[in-house]
Amino acid sequence: MFNHLKNSTRTNIICLFGHPIEHSMSSIMQNVAFKDLGLDYVYIAIDIAPNNLKQAFDVVRALDIKGANITVPHKETTLKFVDEISPLARRIGAINTIKNENGRLIGRNTDASGAKKALKEANIDLIGKNVLILGAGGAARALAHSFIKDTNDLVIVNRTSNRGKTLASELTKEYHKKVLYMKFENKVFEEKLPSIDILVNTTTIGMFPDIHISPIPKNSLHEDLTVFDIIYNPLETQLMKNASEKGCRVLGGLNMLIYQGALSFEWWTNKSPNIELMKRTILNELVVK
Ligand code: ATR
Repeated sequence: MFNHLKNSTRTNIICLFGHPIEHSMSSIMQNVAFKDLGLDYVYIAIDIAPNNLKQAFDVVRALDIKGANITVPHKETTLKFVDEISPLARRIGAINTIKNENGRLIGRNTDASGAKKALKEANIDLIGKNVLILGAGGAARALAHSFIKDTNDLVIVNRTSNRGKTLASELTKEYHKKVLYMKFENKVFEEKLPSIDILVNTTTIGMFPDIHISPIPKNSLHEDLTVFDIIYNPLETQLMKNASEKGCRVLGGLNMLIYQGALSFEWWTNKSPNIELMKRTILNELVVK
């Protein structure tokens, strides 16, 4: 994977911080893109437990690590550990990309743009639609803030009430649009899904290695529903399988992963990565698995 590195003492290190990270394809995708452009960069995925996140950022500064991606479950807590936050990431309340500019750590969020690009490419239009977002973590925040201007009703469903209620009330206040919070229970799906056009799963339920579980009972899905699951490993989650069998339109998380990753890559290196190559490489990896 690292055979593009020069015999250099200046290799630029980019990290991924998450917990867990065994599902992640980011290092494969980013390293192939660095190699393709002959860049002396290396991307390393590191499993950091929440208690050690602060020390991880001390290490980033001490080792002059040039950048990072932040994933589950650190996207919100990372706000505390950087020196500067882009206006969009501040509004969203979550960071998924960091750049180290001469010792100053700057945080941005590329999830929202990545998701919007993936939806646009799949011809999934949010305008006037009733959308239910499952989850209230960093990814849910990014998607909710970017979707709300287009949607009709927006509903947040989450296991932890505090988190879900906070997100719903923040959105209501900021966009002057009522956002409903509902607790994550099967009866909520029975009640609410019939009036929903687009269901977005931002939880980790169904992600590798627990690939046979779905956050939603199959019998609550209906054929007029579009299901967007932001999980990309596996490529087709149990939720997506169930939804396809019910006749729903279905989109997985691969393109969102690639587009948010490409935006991060451009910010770190000032170069555009080969998106097709990134996609092909991940597909090879996931299909062979
Ligand atoms: P990210 O920042 O990538 O969105 P996160 O902040 O860890 O990651 O958020 C993960 C989301 O998945 C949360 O909404 C979490 O619900 P809680 O707020 O209740 O923790 C949700 N999630 C993860 N595992 C879950 C499970 N087994 N059942 C229900 N929700 C789950």
